[in-house]
Amino acid sequence: MTAVKVHDKYFVPFLSEETIQQKISAVAATISLDYQGKKPLFIAILNGSFMFAADLFKHISGDAEICFIKLASYKGTRSTGHVVTAIGLDTDVTGREVVIVEDIIDTGKTLHNFLPQLYNQQPASVKIAVLLHKPEATVYPININYCCFAIPNKFVVGYGLDYDGLGRNLKEIFQLQGEE
Ligand code: IMP
Ligand code: MG
Repeated sequence: MTAVKVHDKYFVPFLSEETIQQKISAVAATISLDYQGKKPLFIAILNGSFMFAADLFKHISGDAEICFIKLASYKGTRSTGHVVTAIGLDTDVTGREVVIVEDIIDTGKTLHNFLPQLYNQQPASVKIAVLLHKPEATVYPININYCCFAIPNKFVVGYGLDYDGLGRNLKEIFQLQGEE
C-alpha cells in the first residue's frame, strides 16, 4: 500500500482504477437502457466531476448531450455549508430529461440548493448520478438514482476530487489515513 501525500496529509489507496472504471461502465449501461430512444441532457457539476463525467459519458450509447455548471461549497477537508454558483447553466432545460452528474454527495447541501433552481425551469425529469456517496454524512435527503460507490464518512481525493486544489489528477481514489 503506497500512501500519497497531498499538501500536509497522507492518503491511502481506496478504490483502484479498474474498480472505478468497471463500475462506471456498468452504471453507464444502466443509464443508456433507461434513456433508450430519449435524448438526455447530462449536467455535470464542476470542478470535482469532470473525470467521472468524461468516463461516464463515453460509455453512454444513443443520443445524449452534456453541459457543465460550477458549484462549490468546500474549503480544505470540511464543507463550508455555503454554496456558490461560479458558472451558471447556459442550456435550456425546459422539457428535457436531465441527468445530474456529481462527484460526491457528502452533506447533500450542494444539490439541495441547486435542485430548486433546476425545477424552476421545468425539466421533464431529473435524475442524479454520483460517483461516491457518504450516507453517514448526508443531512439533506437526496434521491440518488445512480450511485457508483457508497463510502464511509472519510475524506477522499483523486479521480477529480481534490484536497485544497490538489490530488485531482490521481487515477485512483485515496482515503485520508488514520483516524477522523
Ligand atoms: P455536499 O454539498 O456536502 O454534498 O458536498 C458536495 C461537494 O463537496 C462535492 O461535490 C465535492 O466537491 C466536495 N466533497 C465532499 N466530500 C469530499 C471528499 O471526501 N473529498 C473531496 N471533496 C469532497
Ligand atoms: Mg463537486
